[in-house]
Amino acid sequence: MVCMVSIPNVTLNDGAWFPELGLGTYNLNADEGIAAIVAATRSGYRLLDTAVNYGNEREVGEAVRRSGLDRDELLITSKIPGRHHGFDGAIVSVEESLKTLGLDRIDLQLIHWPNPSAGKWLETWQGLIEARERGLVRSIGVSNFTIPMLTRLVDETGVTPAVNQVELHPYFPQAELRAFHAERGIRTESWSPLARRSELLAEAVIGEVAAAHGVTPTQVVLRWHVQLGSTPIPKSADPERQRENADVFAFELSHAEISVISALERGRLWDGDPDHHEEM
Ligand SMILES: NC(=O)c1ccc[n+]([C@@H]2O[C@H](COP(=O)([O-])OP(=O)(O)OC[C@H]3O[C@@H](n4cnc5c(N)ncnc54)[C@H](OP(=O)(O)O)[C@@H]3O)[C@@H](O)[C@H]2O)c1
Repeated sequence: MVCMVSIPNVTLNDGAWFPELGLGTYNLNADEGIAAIVAATRSGYRLLDTAVNYGNEREVGEAVRRSGLDRDELLITSKIPGRHHGFDGAIVSVEESLKTLGLDRIDLQLIHWPNPSAGKWLETWQGLIEARERGLVRSIGVSNFTIPMLTRLVDETGVTPAVNQVELHPYFPQAELRAFHAERGIRTESWSPLARRSELLAEAVIGEVAAAHGVTPTQVVLRWHVQLGSTPIPKSADPERQRENADVFAFELSHAEISVISALERGRLWDGDPDHHEEM
């Protein structure tokens, strides 16, 4: 029998429900990818994070159908790539994603990267607002947006993103951006929440906190995200590790433990500064 974890939800600024933890699907492709995503739904995952550029929207849509769950029990995120920026481009991108997913609604549609040198993220956002009005997507948000970009987006359109999905892990806790999100009612979502495993899980302080709670280092890191008020989307292809990652709602870190983990800060791990990094 599969042991299922109940992952709590929060409410986004547009009234939609949103899980406190989800599944990253980057690199989950082909039949093994579908099987891994279905396994995650059996363990209690309800938020599945894909993107046009992951090349696996077909697999995610197939996993939704094979999960045996009602469509309304799952929340699918996709993302508009740089090459589809622009008002019309955004709408066409959403329509293509729907076709590839084989679904009639995307629950959360994000702009993947702002690509500032192209200067089209504002028009892309206006296209997403239109896509929402047409009922193609339920919630709209962004990814890798900075405070000045978010400020301009809201000032010029009056529509606040529901979510900003950004690089966030104990090496890069993003305190200033999270405080801004909290003030504006934007939900933070953490990409690469385990710092892609790296040496983070072997950090002595994380090991000590894990031993104190009788949990694993991975669970400590994911619990840290949850208590910061950010939704982590760890990727795992392995059903056992997926279960371990979701099982972080039965213990609580103290303020001191959260501080000691946040003190691992050293900055971005990859070349992902949204003012310069661009993806097409
Ligand atoms: N918006 C953006 O620009 C952006 C950028 C990057 C990523 N993302 C999203 O964020 C998701 C997560 O980020 P990520 O995939 O880069 O990195 P991650 O989730 O931080 O780490 C994934 C790595 O950790 C391993 N892992 C997972 N659970 C583990 C456990 N319990 N114990 C030991 N190792 C474990 C995985 O291996 P196994 O699979 O073998 O378990 C994989 O190698 C992506 O899949 C994607 O959906 C978004």
